[in-house]
Amino acid sequence: MHHMDHYRNAFTDYLAREVQIKEPQNLYAPIIYILGLGGKRIRPVMTLMAADIFGEDYRRALDAALAIEVFHNFSLVHDDIMDAAPLRRGQEAVHKKWDINTGILSGDAMLICSYRFLERYNGLVFKDLVKLLGKTAIEVCEGQQYDVDFESRDVVTIPEYFKMIEYKTAVLLGAALQMGAIIAEVDKVAQDLIYEYGRNLGIAFQLQDDYLDAFGDPKTFGKQVGGDIIENKKTFLYLKARELASPQELRELDHLFSIAPLDPTDKINAVKNVFLNTGASEYAQSEIEGFTQRAFEKLEPLKISEAKKRILRKLGEGLMMRLI
Ligand code: IPE
Ligand code: IPE
Ligand code: MG
Ligand code: MG
Ligand code: MG
Repeated sequence: MHHMDHYRNAFTDYLAREVQIKEPQNLYAPIIYILGLGGKRIRPVMTLMAADIFGEDYRRALDAALAIEVFHNFSLVHDDIMDAAPLRRGQEAVHKKWDINTGILSGDAMLICSYRFLERYNGLVFKDLVKLLGKTAIEVCEGQQYDVDFESRDVVTIPEYFKMIEYKTAVLLGAALQMGAIIAEVDKVAQDLIYEYGRNLGIAFQLQDDYLDAFGDPKTFGKQVGGDIIENKKTFLYLKARELASPQELRELDHLFSIAPLDPTDKINAVKNVFLNTGASEYAQSEIEGFTQRAFEKLEPLKISEAKKRILRKLGEGLMMRLI
């Protein structure tokens, strides 16, 4: 086993070799740009780690790691269009730096490229990887549609919210890990456990993303702080705040989510105060811990060494503590 940085560096080197600019530049330059902005690279690291943990040479998982990260970046380019988000990883989003059409087509090309990286595998491994990516990709689309539908829906329940984030975010973390397990050719029981570990971690991950969207530090977060509030997103913070709010707070929140001021600063601050005063933000923190613990429970029956389980728990704890 290696340190996280080792996998990340191996992945970044491989990415630079495999993804290069070509004609037409207006299709590929945005792809190089968004992939070059980096990000945490959590998903490809998970793929490489899972292969290693199950006894496979992690370098055999580099193409699957590439498929996962390129798919993730495709989803971000389209997500920023859908969320009208100006910033990504501290820089202009693709649709801002270029335009919406460029974001659509470069995103489409990335989605296709991600499948093409999987063509480098053979036989049953290839088939299982493609099946997993297909199942996951359609769930991400379903999750993204729920996310957008919820913006304008009056009533969204907390179970509906959890289903939405499971689909738009968590299944991809599960799939990233399961791909490593598929390449290591371990049995289905082990594959399912590592997937479930990733899926539960992914739910905690999206809860944390929602939390940081409101309470992150604009200097380090890399995205527009308050972006979800501007877009009236039905996040856990919002839904829990509504549940806990006094009648007056409820009226205030409903009003704030019905307006679209030119300068959103006051709206963002007022909504954040409701999140804090109702105790919704504390609730979010305890849910993040709860799902991280649930993820760790999935590791228990896995037939791998305690040292490897410790590394996987460290990964989960790192995600829970993150500020970006
Ligand atoms: C952002 O994912 C989208 C979500 C699912 C929350 P990341 O937080 O992994 O983004 P990068 O790749 O590190 O920038
Ligand atoms: C991310 O949800 C889900 C996908 C990109 C599929 P968000 O919309 O919360 O992600 P960020 O916050 O823009 O990264
Ligand atoms: Mg977004
Ligand atoms: Mg979104
Ligand atoms: Mg977000």
